[in-house]
Amino acid sequence: MADLSTSYLGLNLKNPIIAASSGLTKTIHQIQEIEKHGAGAVVLKSIFEEEINYEMKKNMNQMSAPSLIYPEIFDAFDFDAMEDGVSKYLFLIEDAKKSVEIPIIASINCVDAEEWTSFAKRIQDAGADAIELNMFILPSDLKRSGEDNEKVYFDVIEKVKKEISIPVSLKISYYFSNLANMIMKLSETGINGLVLFNRFYSPDIDINNLEVNPSNIYSSPSDITISLRWIAIMANRVKCDLAASTGVHDGEGVVKQLLAGANAVQVASSLYKNGYSQITEMVTFLDKWMTKKKFNKIDDFRGKLSQSSTNNPAAYERVQFMQHFAGK
Ligand SMILES: Cc1cc2nc3c(=O)[nH]c(=O)nc-3n(C[C@H](O)[C@H](O)[C@H](O)COP(=O)(O)O)c2cc1C
Repeated sequence: MADLSTSYLGLNLKNPIIAASSGLTKTIHQIQEIEKHGAGAVVLKSIFEEEINYEMKKNMNQMSAPSLIYPEIFDAFDFDAMEDGVSKYLFLIEDAKKSVEIPIIASINCVDAEEWTSFAKRIQDAGADAIELNMFILPSDLKRSGEDNEKVYFDVIEKVKKEISIPVSLKISYYFSNLANMIMKLSETGINGLVLFNRFYSPDIDINNLEVNPSNIYSSPSDITISLRWIAIMANRVKCDLAASTGVHDGEGVVKQLLAGANAVQVASSLYKNGYSQITEMVTFLDKWMTKKKFNKIDDFRGKLSQSSTNNPAAYERVQFMQHFAGK
């Protein structure tokens, strides 16, 4: 068997396949199954900043809603369930650390640098190996500038880094005015990794019932192209690790992201569609492919086709179909 081990966020992973944060990573049983099927690490289902703020305010006898960038978010929470959600999350981390050997990455979903940031320390104390910050501010507020939105990311990182010493990664979207520049600047903040990219509920219109509904909750294999392009463009340039997320559905997708330069690959939708056994399929495929190509370890080929290493760097920046459609 080839050596599939890799380093991500300073953690030693037996292979680069990580079960991404989702409803499939929120119980001990699920985490044990993920380990049993061979994953290199797991990112727990996110705890929401609003849950943490609510718990903290409640303890301080301040029952009013915290000031959020999107205050309407507050209405979406079930406050009874929230009450012990925070302690349950810490228990889950403690329990997971006792039950499995793979690294446990906790996840916090956040949209601003409010009081919740001090909670990161409790996650560290519960034994998490790292924290992934899942940040997203949809740039839909007509009154907020791009700078306002982007500043929040740096504020959050600064506050969280002050609280903890375990590695921190940041999972982002691609909604930035200059994505490459933003990724570069974020990588220079001292964070240990960036996850490119998160995927969100997207609205669709039902023309029969005249309703707006969520659509395409799960990605499809063709969605890999966006993360693949940006991993390839940023690999070997950023000052932190890169994990690829979105559209990795099989072993081939894993190999592509590693060739583009990812340190690790996160998977969610394909586990919903195929079950945890898809992790085993990915690990087996990677091993066989490496053996066939005579690569002994991941670093023998990681980033071989990144923009900075390929002999066709323009391929990643080509965006128009001029040649492809010429004459068709
Ligand atoms: C049902 C579902 C729930 C998810 N929940 C979270 C979450 O709590 N936190 C998070 O950071 N990402 C969450 N994600 C996003 C995934 O971690 C992942 O980044 C995204 O789905 C893209 O990867 P994929 O193409 O492998 O699905 C969720 C995805 C799905 C499909």
